[in-house]
Amino acid sequence: MSRFGSDPQAFFAEVYRDTAPWDVGEAQPALVDLFTTFPPEAPVLEVGCGTGDLAIALAERGLPVLGVDFVEAAVATAEGRVAALAPDVRRRLAFRVADARRPSALGAEFGAVVDSGFLHLFEEPERDRFAEDLARALRPGGRYYLLAFAVTFPGPRVPRAVSEDELRRRFSPAAGWRLLHCAPATFMSRVAEVPAVAACVERAAEAGVAADV
Ligand SMILES: C[S@@+](CC[C@H](N)C(=O)[O-])C[C@H]1O[C@@H](n2cnc3c(N)ncnc32)[C@H](O)[C@@H]1O
Repeated sequence: MSRFGSDPQAFFAEVYRDTAPWDVGEAQPALVDLFTTFPPEAPVLEVGCGTGDLAIALAERGLPVLGVDFVEAAVATAEGRVAALAPDVRRRLAFRVADARRPSALGAEFGAVVDSGFLHLFEEPERDRFAEDLARALRPGGRYYLLAFAVTFPGPRVPRAVSEDELRRRFSPAAGWRLLHCAPATFMSRVAEVPAVAACVERAAEAGVAADV
């Protein structure tokens, strides 16, 4: 069973009946900083895009973005916000209601996949499956950007911490990844600033390349 019960989609749909705690009205600053240091390439996929802050911020930087979330109401909010944007930004944005755990099933190859609070929703085996599938969805040289909680709060139905060690192991050179950045960061929420980890990994053309950090 998922950390969010037998029907995680219903759980998140219920959260979106009110303003979600992660809906801070802007893209997570830690990710925006990462994009400045390690620019993403087109096209971009956002997994678990929620109401679209990050996807919109990337489209405003000139990148075509597909935002995917399994909650219809969140995607409807994102699409509603698009209508108010400049036509050129609007043209670069698409949203889809779908399960985002298998990016390669979305029918495109991406230059970047961005993850603002998605991987930390899952247990270890699901994280492994996601990372394996991600490798197929990113073209060689494509990058995965992650911001995740680095702590697990007590109580049910909360994200599970992602550690730097875990990321270094999962996105290893032997698995065909180059770790460009992995460091402590902050995840903004409406409740608190949460200790987090920010990372950027690059899909190598061939497995076995050396890590930079
Ligand atoms: C912590 S929220 C983050 C939302 C957004 N990325 C942000 O930073 O504001 C996690 C999001 O993932 C979505 N989600 C969870 N599991 C999903 C799945 N299997 N497929 C697609 N979306 C999922 C939830 O509906 C929610 O919008």
